[in-house]
Amino acid sequence: MDAYIKRVVLFVQQHLGDDRTGHDVAHAYRVVQLALRIIELMPEVEAARVNRRLVQCAAWVHDVIDPKVAVDVQATETELRAFLETLDFTEAEVDEIFFIITHMSFSKNIESRVPLSLNGQIVQDADRLDAIGVIGVARALYYGGAHGDVLYDPAVAPRVLADESEYREPGTVINHFYEKLFQLKDLLNTDAARQIGEKRDLKMHSFVDDFRAEWEGSDVTDA
Ligand code: ADP
Ligand code: NI
Repeated sequence: MDAYIKRVVLFVQQHLGDDRTGHDVAHAYRVVQLALRIIELMPEVEAARVNRRLVQCAAWVHDVIDPKVAVDVQATETELRAFLETLDFTEAEVDEIFFIITHMSFSKNIESRVPLSLNGQIVQDADRLDAIGVIGVARALYYGGAHGDVLYDPAVAPRVLADESEYREPGTVINHFYEKLFQLKDLLNTDAARQIGEKRDLKMHSFVDDFRAEWEGSDVTDA
């Protein structure tokens, strides 16, 4: 591992260390891996436009200043900026990392979609891919448990979310699939991520279909 990546991982461990809501170091690790896979799958001409070091670093730190994770967001932003400057990123690169990580989340894009640089699109795609598929299922259940949300209630219809505050109001875990997770594959930026997303989306649909069938007992057939 590059020496600078070791320092980034340490920084992220210090900030996300004990998160139990799905924004832990393991999530950051998976987002980094997915971002690198997306770049590998890109046509060479497009991949040549990517700043890999910036993408990798932004993927590692993307949740550190999230208000759900940081106790004092402003202080953490100041700390992160100072840290990034020690890694020999130019000021423009540090600004780009900050722009990416403050504008990439699903909740920040409900009202209108924020255009991101190619580097940002890759990090956003990687983060979204980690919210779908079987890991997405696991994270949703884990998040729901950590927040004391109801697992499923057939009488409660999924909401059409209009803004970020509505997104944060508690709903049921199964409704979260309809309110957010099933939309993610169509919000991906890159063809490479869409390839991965299609497969993950199918697995998630299959989980929810099976879940609802078992809830009603309609999976039980006469042998
Ligand atoms: P974003 O950073 O895009 O705003 P979140 O931080 O809200 O996304 O989501 C982090 C993880 O927690 C995702 O895997 C997401 O699906 C899950 N999650 C968020 N809200 C809920 C919820 N109400 N119920 C179940 N899972 C949730
Ligand atoms: Ni994330």
